[in-house]
Amino acid sequence: MIVILRLGIIQYPKKISLSEKIFNEYFKKTNIDAIYEGININPKDFEFKIKDILNNYYGLNVTVPFKEMVFKYLDYANESAVFLGAINTIHNNIGYNTDWIGFYNSILNEKLDGNILVLGAGGTTKAVLYGLYKLGVDKITLINRTYEKAIKIKKLFYKKIDIKVLEFSKLNSEINNANIFINTTSIGMFNEKIPIKLHDNLNLVYDVIYFHTPLQKESESLGIKTINGKNMWYHQAIQNLKIWNIYDENIFEKVYNNI
Ligand code: ATR
Repeated sequence: MIVILRLGIIQYPKKISLSEKIFNEYFKKTNIDAIYEGININPKDFEFKIKDILNNYYGLNVTVPFKEMVFKYLDYANESAVFLGAINTIHNNIGYNTDWIGFYNSILNEKLDGNILVLGAGGTTKAVLYGLYKLGVDKITLINRTYEKAIKIKKLFYKKIDIKVLEFSKLNSEINNANIFINTTSIGMFNEKIPIKLHDNLNLVYDVIYFHTPLQKESESLGIKTINGKNMWYHQAIQNLKIWNIYDENIFEKVYNNI
């Protein structure tokens, strides 16, 4: 009997994710008998459906708004998932957070000297800051549209990173003090521009958005090293495949580069 590994991504609303495309292509190329499906659930049905899903899938990814809701249905969650309050990967009823590892590995070879300015205060921001913390960064400036959310993050990272929180109105002036700028918000997904003017003293601009945003274009035109969100996705995907014990480095790299 051929056993087909069933994997999937719990999501709402319905969409075709980058993961679905790339993982299915990867399974074809590796001859792994597996399928990766979009599992679309309305949040109000989550508690009725989640147990069956956990029983029927070999491996899962979890997206917003389910990353927090899924904790109580699992046997265990690893340390980073507990700290971040978010699970994005499941195997054997254990929850993991691989978002921060995706960020960590995508920036591992960069020099993180100088002032780091981070924009945002959402789930992605927490993953990014946890990655920076694990890379030894002990001080950053944080700006978010909603000031109180940035203060919450400052408290979460108490004793891990010294976070200076500034008002959103300071963004454009603060960029002049920054050597590294990291956008962790969704601004740019629909081609919106972040209200800042970059300068060529910046060593690195990191944008978590997959698309080629106005921020990335401006940064590239100034000759600043620019990292796009696809890198974060790629490295967290590798971590997921490792957790599911189905990682083949060469094939995954080829499939990713082709798509
Ligand atoms: P995720 O889990 O992907 O990080 P999130 O938790 O909803 O998503 O966070 C989205 C982030 O993008 C927040 O920092 C949000 O700012 P607020 O906290 O003020 O909502 C930020 N964001 C989204 N659209 C924005 C906009 N047009 N201008 C400024 N910030 C924006």
